[in-house]
Amino acid sequence: MIKGTNAETVIATQSLTRRFGQTVAVDGLTLQVTRGEILGFLGHNGAGKTTTVRLLNGVLAPNGGAISVLGLDPLRDGVALRRRTGVLTETPSLDERLTARENLSLYAELYGVPGADVSRRTLALLETFELADRADDRVGAYSRGMKQRLAIARALVHEPELLFLDEPTSGLDPVATRQMHDLIRDFAGRGERTVFLCTHNLAEAQRLCDRVCVMEQGRLVAVGAPRELAQALTTQLRLDLEVAPEHLAAARQQLARMPQVRAVERGENGATLTITVAQREAIPALNAALVQKGVAVYRLVPHEATLEDVYFSLHGDAVMQREAEVRA
Ligand SMILES: Nc1ncnc2c1ncn2[C@@H]1O[C@H](COP(=O)(O)OP(=O)(O)OP(=O)(O)O)[C@@H](O)[C@H]1O
Ligand SMILES: [Mg+2]
Repeated sequence: MIKGTNAETVIATQSLTRRFGQTVAVDGLTLQVTRGEILGFLGHNGAGKTTTVRLLNGVLAPNGGAISVLGLDPLRDGVALRRRTGVLTETPSLDERLTARENLSLYAELYGVPGADVSRRTLALLETFELADRADDRVGAYSRGMKQRLAIARALVHEPELLFLDEPTSGLDPVATRQMHDLIRDFAGRGERTVFLCTHNLAEAQRLCDRVCVMEQGRLVAVGAPRELAQALTTQLRLDLEVAPEHLAAARQQLARMPQVRAVERGENGATLTITVAQREAIPALNAALVQKGVAVYRLVPHEATLEDVYFSLHGDAVMQREAEVRA
């Protein structure tokens, strides 16, 4: 039993490590996921997300550390575990010679769905994923997005209590992406089912996830609710300032004198400025100084920090280095 876990702990790892030759794909990962959570797992290409999913599913053996998923050891109890978990892998393999209906039925039987329920569940999923009218076409003739939707339906066919999704919206159009988000929310909605979601899509993580983990080169570098992370990790704050147009020059002059102000840019609209300050505590003084100079302040609004800000503040150096390499 891993320290600090309880009956509501669905996933627990302790110092989990996996190497491939010289590469440490997962480096001492300690993590707990609670029943009912939607956990976002973020990180650059190669950060170790897919490797983690494979370790948690017993497809890959760790080099060190401990794992417990639904109270089971994935390597030893893989068969029992996979009956209770659904997995959408990064590159799902469907049988392209079979129809969608056949793919789902086959999987349902393989994962122990009672015979009497197979066709009902298969049909319900085909309808949910808007594949019912193509149910009897060979999957080889499906578009990429249709295949992705079918692969997700397949991960749900045995009604798992824990769902692993590795980039579920990759290849989906905006409508299908929205449907996928609704589905993920519905799935976890009653608090009994849990989602482990690997994604590059920061807006998706922010919209859906109760907590996010940010991975970098196999290490967990940040974990928390999206909003908390955004507040804790963004090192500067941007403000929109709108003043009476005739006071714009005076406002700029005053701002240029204030040490708390790091940058001032013209806003999109002529009478607005975007100001960067170190922290929110600078706002009252900034406002007072402008008012004292006789500037009519119509609006002074901080931008809500986003997960994207966090991501770039954590990964900024790596991103810049990569951009430099691309340009070189
Ligand atoms: N089977 C393997 N053999 C050798 N190296 C591997 C293997 N699987 C993963 N790796 C290496 O482990 C590291 C982590 O890979 P992983 O696929 O877990 O990253 P990821 O976070 O899922 O990336 P992406 O966002 O591109 O899907 C990478 O350096 C990768 O090259
Ligand atoms: Mg991956």
